[in-house]
Amino acid sequence: MDINKYSPKFKLGKRNLLRLADFSAEEIFELLYAAKVFKKKFKVGENSPVLRGKTIALLFGNASTRTRVSFEMGIRQLGGDYLFLPKNETQLARGESIRDTAVMLGRYGLSAIVLRAFNDAQIQEFADNSEIPVINGISDTTHPLQVLSDLFTIWEVKGRLDNLKIAYIGDGNNVANSLIIGCSKMNMDVAIASPHGYSPAQDTVDRGSQFSDVLITDSIAEAVRGADVVYTDVFISMSGEDDEVKKQKLARYRVTKEVMALAKPDAVFMHCMPVHRGEEVAAEVVDGPQSIVYDQAENRLHLNKAVLAMLVK
Ligand code: CP
Repeated sequence: MDINKYSPKFKLGKRNLLRLADFSAEEIFELLYAAKVFKKKFKVGENSPVLRGKTIALLFGNASTRTRVSFEMGIRQLGGDYLFLPKNETQLARGESIRDTAVMLGRYGLSAIVLRAFNDAQIQEFADNSEIPVINGISDTTHPLQVLSDLFTIWEVKGRLDNLKIAYIGDGNNVANSLIIGCSKMNMDVAIASPHGYSPAQDTVDRGSQFSDVLITDSIAEAVRGADVVYTDVFISMSGEDDEVKKQKLARYRVTKEVMALAKPDAVFMHCMPVHRGEEVAAEVVDGPQSIVYDQAENRLHLNKAVLAMLVK
């Protein structure tokens, strides 16, 4: 379906956002249209106080710049309040159970909770025991908010989503998994080039293949040929800083000027950031004219506001 032919109703109802697989194409359109409205308002200094009287907990288990700041600022701009809870300063760090934490946090008047850097099973257990919406701010295998924001950015820059091709180069990590689901639901072709042993999960590939073409290859050229969007991420994401074997295997999966030349002439370069220049991407690409990485990062603000306004009641 073409997003430009969709008429948004701006209505989704109170619910969790754990993974993109739980959202239909139309529900994703709703979030992207809402992000568009919030961005337009932001640019003229307007804000809607839709979170007035609401407090959102941000329970974070790892470092974050974009996710944390875009939520904190977005919540303030919508008239709400937030509680930043570093996981290692809660009793979770001393072995308190996910279930007890989820049940108990629901009793303090919070309206939603953003969980960051928990694994999928923990996020599911949290949601199963929570009376308030749970939003996944990154897990070991998914990064749904990042990819919703990326879809919004691609829509802005390319004017459409369907029938585009996105090529992702590098580790088949949480961002790659969510790109497969999010982009395929938007009817974009997806090509992932990863070294042997570092491809995205097969069940994710199978699920994405129900909606569009999903190519998994170890060939950068095969993935990038004819792409409208070239995307990469850091070699090491949530864990494994000392994994030298992985770093070595990924070393040639770098987006360079030569790689960008294989894509369409008007292709854009994307990266969810933080960037390691000279590792997964050459500085001249990420700092060059095809790069839209700062727009991507900015759009985390508008998309997060859309998610909170649409899903938190
Ligand atoms: N892309 C992303 O999630 O950025 P942070 O790690 O800075 O939140």
